[in-house]
Amino acid sequence: MDGRNFDLKEEIRDYWSRRSRTFDLAFGHRIPAGPEADAWQRPIRDLLGPAPKRVLELACGTGEVTRLIHDLGHDVTALDFSEAMLAVARAKHAGKTRLRFLLADAENTLEPDQSYDAIICRHLVWTLTRPEETFREWFRLLRPGGRLLVFDGDWATPKFTGRAAGLLISLIDRIIGPDTNYDGAMSERHAAIMNALPFGAGLRPATIEPLLASAGFRDIALHSHEPIARAQRRNANLRNRLRTFVYRRFILTCRRS
Ligand SMILES: C[S@@+](CC[C@H](N)C(=O)[O-])C[C@H]1O[C@@H](n2cnc3c(N)ncnc32)[C@H](O)[C@@H]1O
Repeated sequence: MDGRNFDLKEEIRDYWSRRSRTFDLAFGHRIPAGPEADAWQRPIRDLLGPAPKRVLELACGTGEVTRLIHDLGHDVTALDFSEAMLAVARAKHAGKTRLRFLLADAENTLEPDQSYDAIICRHLVWTLTRPEETFREWFRLLRPGGRLLVFDGDWATPKFTGRAAGLLISLIDRIIGPDTNYDGAMSERHAAIMNALPFGAGLRPATIEPLLASAGFRDIALHSHEPIARAQRRNANLRNRLRTFVYRRFILTCRRS
């Protein structure tokens, strides 16, 4: 682990480790089979093309996106720096031969140069402590022409319409009680971490595009998250349906030149 941000990274790791057992219970984390899995998998399939490819999944957490990549027939290295998160993922995916778990720092993986055809991460970029160095690290790991897929969002500033959804969620919380699995139990700690992060004021594609370009990435493209949100709404209760309207989410792809 890189020493310069040791305290912040330790805090981030401890936060996620403590959330590992209930992480899948919070809406938006577990990816149910059916329309929602199909919607998350579509951009992955489009990016990777025919199997098998060597795919590095960064910050795999409890292994939900891992399943989608693996089920397409690819060879997956699923990395996370929280042993507690990896333990949940390992238990879910026991016995899968094309899947390797790796306890490592996504900002400094120690993996060999040009060893992957693609890198995929969901909900990691917002929590990077050194984004510029990290994008250069990801560039180094990809073979020429290799691709990066980022699922992420601006978790700091609700959309204009999202503010109304947020108010309705607070009202539901007051009437039926808060959903303690949805960040609530640790929200003060979450807020303190966010304040210390480079993207703590919110992650927008326009902020990371120049950083990716200066790391050497080309063909940077944005794709709508809306098909995923629509699929999530199909089986969600009212409070969780409202959650899909609160924040601006995006899917970004690019290519190593
Ligand atoms: C919001 S969770 C997302 C988990 C998973 N990607 C998903 O979408 O279900 C964030 C994950 O990132 C991991 N993480 C955060 N910073 C990391 C880093 N520098 N290196 C490796 N893992 C990291 C945490 O341990 C946690 O599992």
